Amino acid sequence: MRFDTIVRGGNVVTPRGTSKIDIGIVGEKIATIAPDLVAAPDTKVIDASGHHVIPGVLDVHVHLELPFCGTVSSDDYRSGTRAGARGGVTTLIDFAIPYAGDSLEMAADNWMKKAEGKALIDYTFHICITRWNEHKDQIKGMVYRGFTTFKEFMIYKSEGWQSDDRALFGTLEKMKEYGTMLLVHAESADVLDELISRHHTPELMKKYGARLHAMTRPNFVEAEAIQRVVMWSEVTGGQLYIVHMSTAEGTEIVKAAQARGVPVVAETCAQYLVLDDSVFGRDDGHLYACCPQLKKPADSERLWQGLKHGEVSVVSTDTCTFTRDQKAMWEGDWTKIPMGMPGLETLLPITYTHGVLKKRLSLEEMVTKLSTNPAKIMGLYPRKGALEVGSDADLAIIHPSSTRTVSCNTMETNADWSPYDGWDLAGFARTTLSRGDVIVEDYAVVGREGRGQWLPRSSAGLQ
Ligand code: URP
Ligand code: ZN
Ligand code: ZN
Repeated sequence: MRFDTIVRGGNVVTPRGTSKIDIGIVGEKIATIAPDLVAAPDTKVIDASGHHVIPGVLDVHVHLELPFCGTVSSDDYRSGTRAGARGGVTTLIDFAIPYAGDSLEMAADNWMKKAEGKALIDYTFHICITRWNEHKDQIKGMVYRGFTTFKEFMIYKSEGWQSDDRALFGTLEKMKEYGTMLLVHAESADVLDELISRHHTPELMKKYGARLHAMTRPNFVEAEAIQRVVMWSEVTGGQLYIVHMSTAEGTEIVKAAQARGVPVVAETCAQYLVLDDSVFGRDDGHLYACCPQLKKPADSERLWQGLKHGEVSVVSTDTCTFTRDQKAMWEGDWTKIPMGMPGLETLLPITYTHGVLKKRLSLEEMVTKLSTNPAKIMGLYPRKGALEVGSDADLAIIHPSSTRTVSCNTMETNADWSPYDGWDLAGFARTTLSRGDVIVEDYAVVGREGRGQWLPRSSAGLQ
């Protein structure tokens, strides 16, 4: 067989095990995985010796160019997908959120336009249901169009995004009927609003500053909401996915629900694994405000355990980038901080350095949480998420130990800060391939803007 590209001699992680082997690529696909592949005169040979070769990462929780908190998140499909590529991400899933009065179709069209001509890596969207009465009859059409994951927020009334229990319950019924999945941002809106209003005084804001973000969101705010929506999943049988889970309590609820057969899976994000709420005491603590907020070290440890034991299935980023100027909009009032952080570029380095090198996860377990599970859960497997014959030739080549120091000055993100500035991290991609194209070479982005493709997903579950 003649190969366009051979990835030679890396430590290759496949579903059947990890070994020193070659990968032969023809066109956009993996054609062979075998030792000592023979190169034709025009075959490109990529030396991967002394490196791990893993499937391209799927970051299934990303917000690019999102109008939110009175501004627009600053990474768009150009900078965001370049950032992802540098961190070995070859697929991202964003959230198409309807603008005021828009249908689900219009939301998808708007997000398609954001990506077109800019994306370097492949992408698709979760479709956000924000007005149940209007949107409920549009869900089936979106499934036929190739969107099989939907999203509801249990908070964000002021953004016009909040769903009540009627919407959550009704959507989960439809998920059961169509064989699709509902993602939920689980926080208890009413209790959260009450706690915020109790603390929203000039005296307390002066005294506590950004620490009020954590003080008004005790763990039960997330736990109660997870418990409630898990109940709706249990009684409807609708597939549920808890996004950005941040608490030990949430992890226990998911574990117990899974044990009694509730169709629920959970994701956490890199920041909840390695950062904690002590950052809010820093002078620049407001930069770290995201939603849900960072919790305690004990929560991080429980989430790592959940990844190891299985109740946490995915690590993503919830990338929602705001610059220092945008974050400065808070002017001392924590309720006005644009919420979110950059993350695409550091997902793999953080998980590799703090998971694999710290022996919390094996290399194979990391691949399961960053690639295989996200691809399976989101309906993209085995096209994505595995180094397998017939899969897209999406892969990242990483050095096992050599580190790079995180600096927002050398990163692709439009952010002028990183939560990990100054951290030494291994696991940045020396080389990234997307559908056979080299898009990162020697740690630098070389791929062509606009080459990324929208990924339709199957509507086979529709009755
Ligand atoms: O802080 C965050 N997470 N911003 C994005 C919106 C969301 O809730 O995911
Ligand atoms: Zn959220
Ligand atoms: Zn999010």
